[in-house]
Formats: sequence, C-alpha cells, structure tokens
Amino acid sequence: MSKGNVIVVNHPMVQHKLTILRDKKTGSKEFRELVKEIGMFMVYETTRDLPMQEIEIDTPICKTKSKVLAGKKLGVVPILRAGLGMMEGVLQLIPAAKVGHVGLYRDPKTLKPVEYYCKLPQDVEERELLLVDPMLATGGSASAAIELLKQKGAKSIKLVCIVGCPEGIEEVHKYHPEIDIYLASIDEKLNDHGYIVPGLGDAGDRIFGTK
Ligand code: PRP
Ligand code: URA
Repeated sequence: MSKGNVIVVNHPMVQHKLTILRDKKTGSKEFRELVKEIGMFMVYETTRDLPMQEIEIDTPICKTKSKVLAGKKLGVVPILRAGLGMMEGVLQLIPAAKVGHVGLYRDPKTLKPVEYYCKLPQDVEERELLLVDPMLATGGSASAAIELLKQKGAKSIKLVCIVGCPEGIEEVHKYHPEIDIYLASIDEKLNDHGYIVPGLGDAGDRIFGTK
C-alpha cells in the first residue's frame, strides 16, 4: 500500500482568504463565501492528476487537437455540517460530481465522532471521492468517515480540509496510511478542548451562525 501524502496548498489566494477566515471579526456571510471559495481552489490541487484525452476540434481558424477530461467519475462527500460549505465550491468546478453525505458530530465530552447519517452514490466504488471538511482536529471525524466510505465500497478517497494540525494528520494516517490529505494550513496544535490553535474556532457554527 502506498504512503499517503500531505499536501499544503500554499497558493497566495488561498492563504489570503484563510487569514480573513481566521479573523474572529469575519461574520457568517463572508465566512461561508470564503469556505466555498477556498473549497474551489483546493479542488484545482486535488484534481491535478485527473486523466485526459486528446480530441479533434475546429477552432474558428483551423482544425486542432486539444485535451479534455477523460471522464473519470468523481464524487464529493461533505462531512456534515461544516463540509457542506466546501462542497458548494467543489460543485462549482465539477458540476457533474455526484454528492454523498456523511453525518458525524464530535461528542463535546469524549471528542469521539458520532455517526447520524450516511447516503452515498450507488456506484461509489467506481468514483474518485473528495471527502471535504474544513477542520481536521483530533482526526476522529475524518478517520471515521473514511472507514465508513471504505465499508460502503469506496476505493479512491482524498481528504480535503482547510485547517489541520499534526495530531489530526497522524490519526488519519494511523488508520488510513494510504490517504492523501490536502490542507491550506497545518496549525500548531490542539488545545485542551480539542480545538485547533490558532485555528478559526468552530467552523460549523461560524458557517451557519449557530453561536
Ligand atoms: C467539526 C468539524 C469536523 C470535526 C473535526 O464538526 O467540522 O467535522 O469537528 O474534529 P475532529 O477532527 O476532532 O473529529 P463538529 O463535530 O463540530 O460538527 P458540525 O460540523 O455539525 O458543527
Ligand atoms: N472543530 C472545529 O470546528 N474547530 C476546531 O478547531 C476543532 C474541531
């Protein structure tokens, strides 16, 4: 089994938007827009290796050969709730992607993920899946979601988050060493409440304005 990579998307546009996202003065409307936009930028990175094929077309000037996507089946799976924000950005770039949903919340006391929903495309085993969630904290939610996807037959999964930390990366690779993890930042650490430091606070609450 190949070892999964950790890819930090250092693009200036992503890093600029991430700084605004982290700022506690940023309100829900702007926060939501930024999560969507960063989700869209991250997709450029995650789809770099998609297969292409050459077709012949007519430009207004002449015939030419040019490349198109070779039609690999894609899927996006947001981890509810906060992953929904990134999903919108992914779909903007890949409108044909099928969408699955995994519902998990972190028990506030144990910090362990609790599953409450799972609905995936029927042909999940044929699709390259982008599992999206803005936060990779203890890694419990991402790891449980990957396990669930594998149990349902998924063969190809990339984990796409915005802010992570060493603890979360280690946890995911402990149970799923082959998974590539894409992040906009690897922050310093977790605090005693399982929040990423410096992080951006509670992503779900900030997206949906629930606190
Ligand atoms: C947040 C976040 C991740 C999880 C990360 O969701 O969106 O899913 O925590 O933490 P972990 O890596 O320690 O598991 P939360 O459980 O707060 O649910 P929500 O999206 O419904 O707010
Ligand atoms: N979930 C969040 O939304 N933020 C964190 O910092 C950790 C978990």
